[in-house]
Amino acid sequence: MQTESHVLDKPPPGAADDWTIPQDWERYTEEEHATWDILFDRQRRQLPGRASERFLAGVDVLKLSRPGIPDFEELSARLMDATGWKVVAVPGLVPDDVFFDHLANRRFVAGNFIRRRDQLDYLQEPDVFHDVFGHVPMLADPTFADYMAAYGRGGLRALEFGALDHLARLYWYTVEFGLIAEPDGMRIYGSGIVSSHGESVFALDDPSPNRIAFDLKRVMRTNYRIDDYQQVYFVIPSFEELLRVTVETDFAPLYAELERESDLGPADVLPEDVVLTAGTQDYARQKAAE
Ligand code: PHE
Ligand code: CO
Repeated sequence: MQTESHVLDKPPPGAADDWTIPQDWERYTEEEHATWDILFDRQRRQLPGRASERFLAGVDVLKLSRPGIPDFEELSARLMDATGWKVVAVPGLVPDDVFFDHLANRRFVAGNFIRRRDQLDYLQEPDVFHDVFGHVPMLADPTFADYMAAYGRGGLRALEFGALDHLARLYWYTVEFGLIAEPDGMRIYGSGIVSSHGESVFALDDPSPNRIAFDLKRVMRTNYRIDDYQQVYFVIPSFEELLRVTVETDFAPLYAELERESDLGPADVLPEDVVLTAGTQDYARQKAAE
C-alpha cells in the first residue's frame, strides 16, 4: 500500500542504496508456499465476475496460477515482456521519494514476507500476497502500467509542493480500492480489494458503502480509513479515462485549491456527486457501536 510514513531514513543493513533486497525465494518454507496457495485459491474462485477483466487477464499473462509464492525474477521477465515493469523486493515501507522513483522507472516494490496462517483475512502491512497478487496483474495491462509510472512522476512532483497527503488519496481510491464500470457491470480492480477475501464481496455487494463516480479533485479531498472496509468507493469509467484525466491535468493548481478547502470524511456525500449506489453505512455504524 505504501501510503503511511516510514520509520527508517536510510537503507537497513543488507539493502542496496535504492533500498532493494534479494527476494531470497529459496528461503520460503513449505508452510509459506502453502499459505500463498490457500490465499490464491480462495481468490481464484471468488474473482471471476467480480474483478475487472483486465485484472483477470493479468493473472493469466503472469501465470500466477502455478503453486507457491512467485519468484520475482521469473515474474519480472513476464511483466517486462508485457509492459516493461519489474518487481523488486524491499524491507517493508521505504521513504516516499524512493517509492516514487521506483514507480517512475517501472519498478514495483514488493514486500517479500507472507502473512501467518492465523492472519489470512486481515493484516495492515502489505505482504507478498497483497503486493504480488493484488498489484502485479494490473501492471501487466499497458494502460494501467502507464498510469502507475505517471503516478510515480507525479509523486516526485507532489513532494516539491508538499502535497503528498492529497496525492496519496488518489492512489488509495484508485490503485488500492478502485472500482470500474465495465459493460457487464461494476467490477473491482483495486489491489486492496482483490487481495481481500472479505472486501472483494463487500465492495460490490454490501449495501453499506457509497459508490460514487470518480472525480479527480473530489477524490483528493477525501480522507480514508486504513483499518477496516471502505465507506466509499470511487468508480472509474475506464482505465483509459483515468490515465487521460490524471496525465492531462496539471495538479499544481489543484493542490493550491485543495489547500484552501476542507477535507471530506469517507462517508460524506456532496450535492454534485454522481452517486451510483447510496450506502446505508450500516456496517460502519455497527462497527463503531461495538
Ligand atoms: N498530472 C499530474 C501532475 O501534474 C501527475 C500525475 C499523473 C499524477 C498521473 C498521478 C497520476 O502532477
Ligand atoms: Co498495495
